Parts: sequence; C-alpha cells; structure tokens
Amino acid sequence: MDQDWLEQIRARIDQALDDALGQHLGDSRLLEAARYSVLRGGKRLRPALVYAAAAAVGASREAADTAAISVELLHAYSLIHDDLPAMDDDALRRGQPTTHIAFDEATAILAGDALQALAFSILGEDDVRTDHMRVKQLRLLGEAVGFRGMALGQAIDLESEGKALSLDALKAMHARKTGALITASVLMGAACGEPSDADWTALTEAGQAIGLAFQIQDDILDETASTETLGKTQGRDQVLGKSTFPSLLGLKASEKEAYALVEIAHKALARLAGDTTMLEQLARLSVERTN
Ligand code: IPE
Ligand code: IPE
Ligand code: MG
Ligand code: MG
Ligand code: MG
Repeated sequence: MDQDWLEQIRARIDQALDDALGQHLGDSRLLEAARYSVLRGGKRLRPALVYAAAAAVGASREAADTAAISVELLHAYSLIHDDLPAMDDDALRRGQPTTHIAFDEATAILAGDALQALAFSILGEDDVRTDHMRVKQLRLLGEAVGFRGMALGQAIDLESEGKALSLDALKAMHARKTGALITASVLMGAACGEPSDADWTALTEAGQAIGLAFQIQDDILDETASTETLGKTQGRDQVLGKSTFPSLLGLKASEKEAYALVEIAHKALARLAGDTTMLEQLARLSVERTN
C-alpha cells in the first residue's frame, strides 16, 4: 500500500471528522459519546475508498470530502450499535471500552442515532458537487444501510446465531451487513465525477468483491489475531455461535476465497480508463490487513 497516500487521507479525514463533530453541535454528553466513538482510531478504510474512487473518475478530493465524512460517521454508528448488549455484546473496540461501557447504553444508542442522522445531513450540504451528484449520493447511502442493506444484514446475523448458514446465505448476509456500505463508499466516490455506465458497472463489481473480501478477513482475524492487535475481543464469533467463513470453510479455504475476490476486484478495475492504483491497493489491503 502507498503509505504516504493513506497517511494523507487519514489526516484529512481525521481533521474533517473532528470539525464535523465540533462545537456548533453544542456541548452535551451525547456529543461527547459520539466524539469518543468516531475520533479514537479506526482504519478509515471506507473514506479511503471514497477518495480512491473519486480519483479513478477524475474527481477532486474537495468533491469527495462530504461523502468520505458521511461513510465514516455511518460506520461509527454501526459499530456502536453492533457492540451493544442486545447485539454482539462487546466490551472492547479500537482498543478502548465500547461506547455503552464508557458511557451508558442509552447514550450509546442515541449517539449512534445522531451519528447516522449527521451522516445524511452532511452529505446534503452545499459544496462543489452538483445537485445531481448530491442526490445520487444520498440515495446510495440510504439504500446501502437500510432494509435491503446493512440493517437487514445485521438482523440476519443476529437471527442466525447458533445456526449453520449455507455458504450462499452467508455470502448474502456478509454482502449486506458489510459489503453494502463498502460498495456504497466506492460508488459515492465515483458519483463525485461523471463515470460512464460501463465504469459504474465495473466499480460496482469491484466494490462488492472488496466488501465481501473485507468481511471474510474480519472473520479470519476474529479467529487468528490477538485481542491486542485487533483492538476488539478475539474469538467472540465462536462464543456467539456466528456463522463465519472460517466456521463454514476452515481458515485455508477462507483465505483462498478472500484472495480470489481481490482478483475479481482487480479485473473489474482494469476495465476502467482512469487511475485505479489506489483502489487496487485498497482491495489488497482489505485482505492483507492485520487488524
Ligand atoms: C469493523 O470494521 C466492522 C466490520 C464491518 C467488519 P473496520 O475493521 O473497518 O473497523 P475500524 O473502523 O477500522 O475500527
Ligand atoms: C459488523 O460485523 C458489521 C457492522 C455492520 C458493524 P462484526 O460484528 O463482525 O464486526 P466486529 O467484528 O464486531 O467489528
Ligand atoms: Mg456483528
Ligand atoms: Mg461485532
Ligand atoms: Mg467481526
């Protein structure tokens, strides 16, 4: 991975997130919980995908900023709720106590709610994007995280605890709970420019492959990495009886599947005329990461 590029992007998004959760929102315990959840670490992979996809279609970083902030705020909300006692009941996230433990459960739920709302309101702000681009991004995000996207994926994940899903059902669940927001990150970046239909299709295929590969690696790391490197408690999937790629296929076959998906993403990206170097590298990073 081009570490300089990634560091630049991380610095840019960290500053933008800090600004987005600034004093203009007041001074409440709710905001403090949101800032705690958003500003303490995280790989910032989804914003990086937004900027990389924008670059691939020749759009500027300025045009991509609001989408980058929005996907990370949305992601932060999903993590707070994912960790709640009613969901995965996790105590550790990004090496720190989860939001409901550092604050309290009601505050964590509400901080998630407010972060989700803020993601959409920031995406609707006026800037260098055309109205058409803005509306397209709002729809992409809404569709990715609702009844047919992340929320549905999370519902299936929880309903499936203690059951062994078929491989197809597992792929469909992962595509929703994690893949949908990752695909939307790529497409929201692309929507900062004016990609052809063929480029849009190729980016959709790449985004879907990266999204699934990313969750397979998340499943693998839950089994193989240490709590310290992960920043979250190792082995929770097995304790909770989750259907995961390693639980269904074993570690070796899961790794093979993840790499095959990176190949699919690379092949799709090769069809674009624009510069897809960063997207290609992020696809690889999504499976070669160690946390
Ligand atoms: C974790 O996402 C949750 C999943 C969707 C698998 P990340 O691994 O991107 O978490 P952070 O943002 O780096 O903490
Ligand atoms: C979470 O998947 C997907 C989300 C929508 C947050 P996991 O439950 O596997 O994520 P981690 O392992 O807790 O980060
Ligand atoms: Mg979960
Ligand atoms: Mg979880
Ligand atoms: Mg996990």
